[in-house]
Amino acid sequence: MTTQTGATPVRTRRFATRLLAWTETNRRDLPWRNTRDPWAVLVAELMLQQTQVARVVPRYDAFLADFPTPARAAAAPVSAIVTAWEGLGYNRRAVNLHRTAQLVVSQHGGRLPDRLGELMALPGIGPYTARAVLAFAFERDHGVLDTNAARVLARAVAGRSLRPREAQDLADEQVPLGRGWDWNQAILDLGATICVKRSPRCHECPVSQACAWASSGFPDPDPATGTAGASTPQSTFLGSDRQGRGRLVQALRTGPLPVERVPDAAGWPDDPGRARRIADRLVGDGLAEYVDGQLALPV
Ligand code: ADE
Repeated sequence: MTTQTGATPVRTRRFATRLLAWTETNRRDLPWRNTRDPWAVLVAELMLQQTQVARVVPRYDAFLADFPTPARAAAAPVSAIVTAWEGLGYNRRAVNLHRTAQLVVSQHGGRLPDRLGELMALPGIGPYTARAVLAFAFERDHGVLDTNAARVLARAVAGRSLRPREAQDLADEQVPLGRGWDWNQAILDLGATICVKRSPRCHECPVSQACAWASSGFPDPDPATGTAGASTPQSTFLGSDRQGRGRLVQALRTGPLPVERVPDAAGWPDDPGRARRIADRLVGDGLAEYVDGQLALPV
């Protein structure tokens, strides 16, 4: 029997057994894996969106030492959260985290909710992050689907590319009963270290014998190609608006900036119009405000 996605029950069972055995001795020891505190898990998952593990590790404990609870984060000015976010990039995540902390305090008694819908109603929390909080803090059996997980499932389980809904359904379906926490961490580890995007290390793979793509002889195209969320190319950073935004926020961390200095701080002294547009967008996103002719982090 083959399911709609191409997974066969026997291969699926073998895949699950091997993956769970592998993760027992190969799980990466990462600081956010030593907690089940939903706030600490949320902070990790937001930091890990678009920022590599190696860059998150040194910032994570320091951030939680400053903001150990939603209440402490909610009581701080947003500028303090953005400042503590330094080095992680995509500063809008810090603003969303601050808003989420405030809503958690005002609407949920200071504790993160444990329901998918309620989590996804919070700023900056999408389907991935909501399920990650449920799986990694509340140990629920949801499938956590990021780019790494989508790639693993498309190759190893389905053996073909997956549309978004199929990928999420398959991720949820695959979680062995009661094993949501270690299963999802294992899938993320496999995708990050072995079932990597280019040149996967199949000879080292604990589940190669149960892999749909391997058992059919690695036909082209790679099932990861075209799978929902599995192959989002990073846009070029150099010279991008994002680079200008990053430079401006970095400058604001040291204090307010007179508007006439914005083009220099953004790195575009010859294009004040572009610099001004970026500054306006930062203000629109809640990352900055204009006060007395100066651009500043909001308080
Ligand atoms: N990327 C996103 N979530 C992760 C986690 N819990 N562990 C490792 N990498 C991740």
